[in-house]
Amino acid sequence: MKQIALCVSILLMASNGNAQNPATNYDESKVPPYKLPDPLVLSDGKPVRDAATWRNVRRPEILGLFRSHVYGRSPDGAKQVSWQVASTAKALDGKALRKEVWIQFSGKPDGPRMNLLIYLPAAAKGRVPVFLGLNFNGNHTISSDPGIRLGFLWKEKQRMPAPESSRGSTASRWPLERILERGYGVATAHYFDIEPDFDGGIQYGIRPLFFKPGQTSPAPDEWGAIGAWAWALSRAMDYLQTDPAVDGRRVAVLGHSRLGKTALWAGAQDERFAMVISNDSGEGGAALSRRIFGETIRDLNTRFPHWFCGNYKKYNDRADALPVDQHMLLSLIAPRPLYVASASEDLWADPRGEFLSLVAAGPVYRLLGKRDLGTDQMPPPDKPIQTDVGYHVRTGKHDITAYDWEQYLNFADRHLR
Ligand code: GCU
Repeated sequence: MKQIALCVSILLMASNGNAQNPATNYDESKVPPYKLPDPLVLSDGKPVRDAATWRNVRRPEILGLFRSHVYGRSPDGAKQVSWQVASTAKALDGKALRKEVWIQFSGKPDGPRMNLLIYLPAAAKGRVPVFLGLNFNGNHTISSDPGIRLGFLWKEKQRMPAPESSRGSTASRWPLERILERGYGVATAHYFDIEPDFDGGIQYGIRPLFFKPGQTSPAPDEWGAIGAWAWALSRAMDYLQTDPAVDGRRVAVLGHSRLGKTALWAGAQDERFAMVISNDSGEGGAALSRRIFGETIRDLNTRFPHWFCGNYKKYNDRADALPVDQHMLLSLIAPRPLYVASASEDLWADPRGEFLSLVAAGPVYRLLGKRDLGTDQMPPPDKPIQTDVGYHVRTGKHDITAYDWEQYLNFADRHLR
């Protein structure tokens, strides 16, 4: 028995590369009963019956609650941001146009900057729709294209140039040729450019640029690292709005795992994103927090204390005290197309909790005249459901694969073409 448990936990660790809490619940029959807050009831208890009340009252209310209790408030817009096109060239055997754009966050050329890497189909006539998402390991890892500037890696909190050997090391997560062939562009940046992802990484990132005089750490309701990464996606979007080859009205924001949490938060706040895609985003992303299965709020706050706002720590073991749950984050994307995807072996991210969260956002889509998933029965693996929202659970582990991308391209064809 012990051996089986050990094997299961090793498997789970392998599926997302992280050690986990031995107390984690993976038993469906042990999920305690829970009651979700209703996205269509105002905080004063009155029901939301029309789109105008949703738009003008309830939506801002929910957004405010996520700001105060979960991700923290981000600065408005970006007074200091500027950009510079650093390179433009044909790439991938002439099939693509590659651009590198430096997005400078402090207004100073030697200050912190994000290197936005863009591929556009060379054959495109007119402006193209684009998938925008942050990457985990550096732009040069998404393709073996030798023209991509080598990025950086961080070892023991030190930034150093990435080795040539890391080129293309995450290419399976970015099927560039296929995306371009389907008529879409891709824009990506390394999330460490914005703030390196470790406790204490804040001192190397952009958040201190916004401290008030004398401030040394964010207030309990101010942004965590996810807030900073999401904010940077909006700054990338500012640039994309100005690029004459890009259709700024057809930009989908996507992300895997912690970067899926980030894509959802970016899409919730910034309505310029025409489509939002969450790949295996799990706890603090698409998955319901009140459903105790896999990762919990305490796990998040313990292992990644820098991701969320200070106030979120009040909800360790008290998800039911939160005035929101993650289906309400999904409802903030409505009426825009939203895709949630899970992986069958990624139990840490609670695939069923991700599915049920999308189901529970359904009433908001319907109120706004859109189709929800149309079922509360979780589909079997590899059977996507696509309406105005989309869901699939892919066979396999925690990852973003060509299969996942294929579904996102199909979904984009429905909604962005
Ligand atoms: C950890 C973390 C998850 C996160 C994942 C990832 O497993 O607990 O919340 O989604 O890392 O980003 O890969």
